[in-house]
Amino acid sequence: MASTGILLIFTVIFISVGEGRTFINVECKTENRALYGQSSLLECVVKTAQDVTDVPQIRVVTWKKKGVEKALLVFNRGRMEDNSNYSFAEPSWNDKNMNVSLLIANTTVEDEGVYDCMVMTNSGDNTNHTNLSVTAKYSKPTIKSIPENITRNTDGTLVCNASGGYPQGQLRWFDDNNVEWTKSIDMEVTKTGHGLFNLSSSLKVMRESPFSKFTCVVFNASGGKEDEDRYEIPDEPGTTSEHGSDSASRIVAPVVVIGSLIAGLLLVLVLFNRRRHQQNRRQSATPLMGDHREVRTCESYAEGGDHQEMDTKCPDSLA
Ligand SMILES: *[C@@H]1O[C@H](CO)[C@@H](O)[C@H](O)[C@H]1NC(C)=O
Ligand SMILES: *[C@@H]1O[C@H](CO)[C@@H](O)[C@H](O)[C@H]1NC(C)=O
Repeated sequence: MASTGILLIFTVIFISVGEGRTFINVECKTENRALYGQSSLLECVVKTAQDVTDVPQIRVVTWKKKGVEKALLVFNRGRMEDNSNYSFAEPSWNDKNMNVSLLIANTTVEDEGVYDCMVMTNSGDNTNHTNLSVTAKYSKPTIKSIPENITRNTDGTLVCNASGGYPQGQLRWFDDNNVEWTKSIDMEVTKTGHGLFNLSSSLKVMRESPFSKFTCVVFNASGGKEDEDRYEIPDEPGTTSEHGSDSASRIVAPVVVIGSLIAGLLLVLVLFNRRRHQQNRRQSATPLMGDHREVRTCESYAEGGDHQEMDTKCPDSLA
C-alpha cells in the first residue's frame, strides 16, 4: 500500500514538472492562402496557460520552411537576422509581442509548403507548423480561329488560350445550347519560368456544323469558373462576328428579316393588284384583238423601216 502511495505522489510531481515546462503554446492557423505576386501572412501566436498572469518574454523565434536548410527569419535574444523578403507581420514587433506571424513580401509559387515556427520564452518553448498555398488567377481566355477567316462552309480550328494561372486549371468548350464539347479537343499545358501554367485548347469545327457559337471557359484547380470568351463563326467571310456577343447585330438581324418580309409582302400585293387590273383591261379589250393582229403583221412586214414608212408599206389588203 505505502509503495503505491509513493508511486502516485511521484507521478503527480512528474506530471506537474512536465506541465511546468510548457507554459506556452504556439498556435497557428492550419491553412494560409496567398495570391501570387502579393504578400502572404502565416499566422502564429504564442498563447500562455491561463494561470500565468505575467506576459512571457520571448527569447528566440525561428521560422523555417520544410525542405529548406537555412532559416527564413531568426530573432535571437534581441538580435534579428534580417531578410528583405521575410519579416514579422507586426510592424514594430518586440519580444513582448505574442503575435509572431510571418510576412512574405512577394509570394511566388515556390513559397508553397509547410512552415515551422519555433518559439523559446522564459516560460517554456514550443514549436508548431502552418501551411501556405498559392493561387494565381488565369488571364481572360481568348479564342482565335485557324485559318483566320473561317466560315460555316469551311473546316477549321478554334484555339483558346488562358495564361499565368496556378495551380493547373482547365479549359472547357460549350456550344450554342450550353452543351459541353468533349470530343475533338486537345488541351496543352505549359509551365512558365515562374511555375505558372499556360493553357491552350483546340476545338475542331466541321463545315456545315449546326453550331456556330462557342464559349471557352477557364476553370481553376478547385473547379470554380474564372472567366470565358465567346466566338461566333460567321456565315460569310469577313462578316463581323468576332469575340463576345455583338448586341447591335443581334438587334439589327431580326429588324432586317422582319423588314424584308414586310417589303416582300407589299411587293406581292402590288404585283397581284396590277395583274388583276391588267387582266380586267385585257378582257374588255378582247373585241379589238383582231385589229391588233393586223397591225402586228403589218409591223413585221415593214421590218426595219420607221413608222411612217410602215404605214405606206403596209399592204392594202391588210389595212
Ligand atoms: C497578427 O498580426 C498580423 C499583422 O498585424 C494581423 O494581420 C493578424 O490579424 C494578427 N493575428 C492575431 C491572431 O492577432
Ligand atoms: C476557384 O474559384 C472559386 C470561385 O471563384 C473560388 O472560391 C476558389 O477559391 C478558387 N480556387 C482556387 C484554387 O483558385
